[in-house]
Amino acid sequence: MPKTTLRGATIVGTGSALPERILSNFDLEKMVETSDEWIVTRTGIRERRMVAEGQDNSDLAAAAALKALEAAGLTVQDVDHIFVGTVTPDRILPSMACTVQQKIGASHAACLDINAACSGFLYGLQIGQSLIQSGASDTVLLIGAETLTRIIDFEDRNTCVLFGDGAGAAVLRVCDPGTGVLSVKLGADGGQGDMLTVPAGGSERPATHETVSARDHFIKMRGNELFKYAVRAMEQISRDALTKAGRSAEELVALIPHQANQRIIDATADRLGIPKDKVMMNIERYGNTSAASVPILLDEVVRAGRIKDMDLIELVAFGGGVTWGAAVIEWNPKAARPIEGREAKSSIAAVKTGAPA
Ligand code: ACO
Repeated sequence: MPKTTLRGATIVGTGSALPERILSNFDLEKMVETSDEWIVTRTGIRERRMVAEGQDNSDLAAAAALKALEAAGLTVQDVDHIFVGTVTPDRILPSMACTVQQKIGASHAACLDINAACSGFLYGLQIGQSLIQSGASDTVLLIGAETLTRIIDFEDRNTCVLFGDGAGAAVLRVCDPGTGVLSVKLGADGGQGDMLTVPAGGSERPATHETVSARDHFIKMRGNELFKYAVRAMEQISRDALTKAGRSAEELVALIPHQANQRIIDATADRLGIPKDKVMMNIERYGNTSAASVPILLDEVVRAGRIKDMDLIELVAFGGGVTWGAAVIEWNPKAARPIEGREAKSSIAAVKTGAPA
């Protein structure tokens, strides 16, 4: 940690939202040439969630955000910045962060989407931490939200078994330095962009009859290459974030990894020497929810009471771009500075009703 930093950033609340509809491996057996046994042994996934018709990604994101604010004891009016990590925004324009702002009524917040695929939450964490450290923000609402089932080719067994929908959120608040988010390290390799891509629908290849019939608006993936790259990158960035924080893997109480493939998670944890009981997982129930994966898992782990105050945890992710990132956090919500002129936890009722503070 730089000695000159006068402000720190700490997570004060988390939330998540999952669509009700469950798509099981057995459902997929009826759609493509695959089997529950193949999917479970190769990926660890048994089922994933799927949005209903008319349900938008911003609906999930807004629901997760309100839960995180409620857990934090803050109101929508307290939020200075909203960042949404997503590769499946409702629309190309406006940004989904703006749509979420409108849906939750956080009218004082500046809004920005982050396209770093599965690493979006980690990228947002570094941006949020930096804004808080610099004094440009006191409260950042950080969301990872995806409706990947809307860009999956349900005729392509290489991809359709892997992905699901959901949203997770966390509220970052200013605190004294030396606790909370201790370090965030990020990386990217744009030369590998084609390993996971949606080839059409951007400005390079706008939608035409030809792109639609070629199914080029769906995810295309070179899974095997991604797998190998992901394990190497997640191990290295996890070590780098620990080094930057001046902490060791042995001190970790929980590793919260991106949920892409159980074998990727196992291999990463093995290389880091982290025992299985400290490696958090929910891939079985949700599959890969890209930018939503880390914050959904974090929220589940927090609400299950698996992390206690002052526990050391590490988040790590790898995804399209390709991008990767890791963060070391001393779990310390109580370190947050209260909103000026207000006792902490005084405004939960206002958040519940959506009314301004
Ligand atoms: N059902 C049955 N068979 C399948 C399926 C399926 N759903 N999908 C692929 N296969 C077949 C392949 O066609 C291949 O058959 P072949 O040997 O006759 O050619 C065989 O299974 C093995 O395929 P591989 O790709 O070598 O299988 P692998 O063990 O690598 O597992 C997987 C594939 C699960 C995609 C894995 O590579 C993976 O998880 N990669 C990471 C992908 C990922 O998560 N991407 C998202 C973003 S990046 C990230 O989040 C880390």
